[in-house]
Amino acid sequence: MQKSFDLFFVSSNNHKYHEAKKILDSFGIKLGFLKSDLEEIQSNSLNDIAIKKARSAFSKHKKPIIIEDDGLFISSLEGFPGPYSSYVFKTIGNKGILNLLKNNRKAKFVSIITYCDKTILESFDGKLNGTISKSQKGKGWGYDPIFIPKNSNKTFAENNSNKNELSHRYKALKKFSNWYLHK
Ligand code: IMP
Repeated sequence: MQKSFDLFFVSSNNHKYHEAKKILDSFGIKLGFLKSDLEEIQSNSLNDIAIKKARSAFSKHKKPIIIEDDGLFISSLEGFPGPYSSYVFKTIGNKGILNLLKNNRKAKFVSIITYCDKTILESFDGKLNGTISKSQKGKGWGYDPIFIPKNSNKTFAENNSNKNELSHRYKALKKFSNWYLHK
C-alpha cells in the first residue's frame, strides 16, 4: 500500500531529508522524499536561492513541497562561505576551511525552509551559533565534522544524539510546522 504524505522534501541530499523527516514526524507531519537535483542560482541571499529552488521544485513535481537551503557563516571570514557553502564544501572541503582559520572560530549555521504549493510561497529561517573545531572530528556528513554547536565541546559528527532538537534545520522546521498546522 502506498504511504500517504502531507508534503514532500525536494533535495538531492538524503541526510537532510532523514533529519527533516524525523523532525517533522515529531510535529505529526508526514514528509515524503522527491530526490531531485534542483538548479541553484548564485546569489548573496539564501532566501533568494531558496525561493527560486522552491518555485522550480513545485513546477517540476506539482505537489506541495518544501526545499531547504543552508549556509555556514564564519565570523572571521566575514560570513564566508555563507550562500556559497555547497560549492566551497565540494571544492576546498572541511580541510580547506580549517586552513583558513586562526583564533576566532565563531560560526553559525543558517537554514531556510521554503514551502510552495499552487497558491502559497512561504519561507522560515533557523540559526544555530557555534564554533569551528581545530581539526575534523567524528564521522558525519557535510560540515558536521568541524561544527561544534554552542554549549557543547563535541562536533555534530562526534555527538549528534540531540542534533534534531537544536539544529538550524530543527529551528526552521519548528517555525514551519507552527505555521503549516494552523494555516
Ligand atoms: P545547501 O546549499 O543547502 O545544500 O547546503 C550548503 C552546504 O552546507 C552543503 O555542503 C551541506 O552539505 C552543508 N550543510 C547543510 N546543513 C548541514 C548540516 O546540518 N550538517 C553539515 N553540513 C550541512
